[in-house]
Amino acid sequence: MTPWPYPLWIAHRGAGKLAPENTLAAFRLGAAHGYRAFECDVKLSADEVPFLLHDATLERTTPQSGSAGERRWEALSQLDAGAWHSRTYAGEPMPTLAAIAAYVQHNRFALNIEIKPTPGHEARTGEVVAQHAQRLWAGQPLPPLLSSFRPEALAAAQAAAPELPRALLLDTLWDGWSGVARALSCVAVVSKHTLMDAALRGQLREAGLRALCYTVNDVAEAERLKALGIDGLITDAVDRFSPA
Ligand code: G3P
Ligand code: MG
Repeated sequence: MTPWPYPLWIAHRGAGKLAPENTLAAFRLGAAHGYRAFECDVKLSADEVPFLLHDATLERTTPQSGSAGERRWEALSQLDAGAWHSRTYAGEPMPTLAAIAAYVQHNRFALNIEIKPTPGHEARTGEVVAQHAQRLWAGQPLPPLLSSFRPEALAAAQAAAPELPRALLLDTLWDGWSGVARALSCVAVVSKHTLMDAALRGQLREAGLRALCYTVNDVAEAERLKALGIDGLITDAVDRFSPA
């Protein structure tokens, strides 16, 4: 296997739950805790601007409700995505992928872009996010790792930007996942941490796939996974685990 260029510890949604997820403030807080690699969720606005948001709808993290993917970026960019978390972060906006690219590149941080399509827009989201990522990271030493639970999104990303590394996300070991990871030329699988054991670790190694796990917030669980030789640990607990 080729050397793995990404850090072991990856801050989930920027800084887990300590700051509003998927905002620049969260990335800054994760960085203040020593993190040099970040995961974030990316979807498309109605006018196809890639931006950071986990949910398909707006109500959990903004004052508005309804499908985020049906709004244009001009409207989404005005929303307060920080006040739901705490007063400290009131007014924090949802960032574009372009803004996050500029931030991580300026700081030489690694990024795992989870392609999180609005349901029904899987292929188009994979295609557009990969096109933007390819352009935004052109000439950069470390490409972003594109991951998704949705094979259609990864297939479209592969067609649009074949040289960007891909990872299949697994919340269950569904039938045929390993053939799909192979067909998509994935470099890694990112599994729910409870799925990872010596058997799965061995199967991935045999298939030439790196093994990453989400979301690892418990010290004993992190030790168990490190003992298995896991390549990446995605965590909310940036105040508990020091990457150094
Ligand atoms: O990318 C790993 C992890 O973020 C997947 O789950 O729901 O937190 O996006 P979720
Ligand atoms: Mg995610």
